[in-house]
Amino acid sequence: MKSILENRPALAKQVDEIAEVAGYLWQKGWAERNGGNITVNITGMIDDEIRQMPAISKKTPIGKTLPNLKGCYFYCKGTNKRMRDLARRPMENGSVIRICDDCASYEIIADQAVKPTSELPAHLSMHDYLISNGSGYKAAIHTHPIDLVAMTHNPAFLKKDVLSHLLWSMIPETKAFCPKGLGIVPYKLPSSIELADATLEQLKEYDVVMWEKHGVCSVSENVMEAFDMIDTLSKSAQIYLTAKSMGFEPDGMTDEQMKEMTVAFNLPK
Ligand code: 13P
Ligand code: ZN
Repeated sequence: MKSILENRPALAKQVDEIAEVAGYLWQKGWAERNGGNITVNITGMIDDEIRQMPAISKKTPIGKTLPNLKGCYFYCKGTNKRMRDLARRPMENGSVIRICDDCASYEIIADQAVKPTSELPAHLSMHDYLISNGSGYKAAIHTHPIDLVAMTHNPAFLKKDVLSHLLWSMIPETKAFCPKGLGIVPYKLPSSIELADATLEQLKEYDVVMWEKHGVCSVSENVMEAFDMIDTLSKSAQIYLTAKSMGFEPDGMTDEQMKEMTVAFNLPK
């Protein structure tokens, strides 16, 4: 069977990059079993031949109506599929979907009828928002980093911007590469529309959103940048936890040092 990637170098390169990041998620220990998901808006790489391709699945409701997604195409990790498998065989562990004209359902078009991730409502809600605000962002990742998830088990860290400031103060790069910090969504049932809606609310202010006692989501221009932000925050979390495990509370950079850095790097306050 012919793959949608055949003779489409740009699309093949995009899927390669997704597979590379899936491998990193596994190597990091953030992707136990089927944990986490990746979706990428590939509409810009779609040609007329793909537009004519028949569906290979039934039309399936998303659970939400997302007006900006009409006719859009996404690569989605498959539900119950493993990141470590996706890293080697992306088109067997994920698929390409098309959003139907009702903006409330999708159909799978290639390569195999692999059902998209159970977090599709959250992912597609984020993509809908990212189109509406003209961000140009194309990638969304959800993953389960041990250190960041552990920190959400402390109610003190769930108050607005407390965790952002703590993580920024561990090493200067964190604010430089994750300047908006992270938003917090109080615990909600995985895959639920409530989780999707609450994530969307936080996305208006942040590019990275923590799901209490579950995981983290990030959005960016591309899948590598989305990964880098989580990786940077996780590094800060590890510095914090390492200091704690040595028996002391880390000082963190002073307010002066943070201010100096914010000005020097031209970052938002
Ligand atoms: P899926 O296997 O459906 O992508 O779910 C993994 C996950 O992390 C749910 O939150
Ligand atoms: Zn999850």
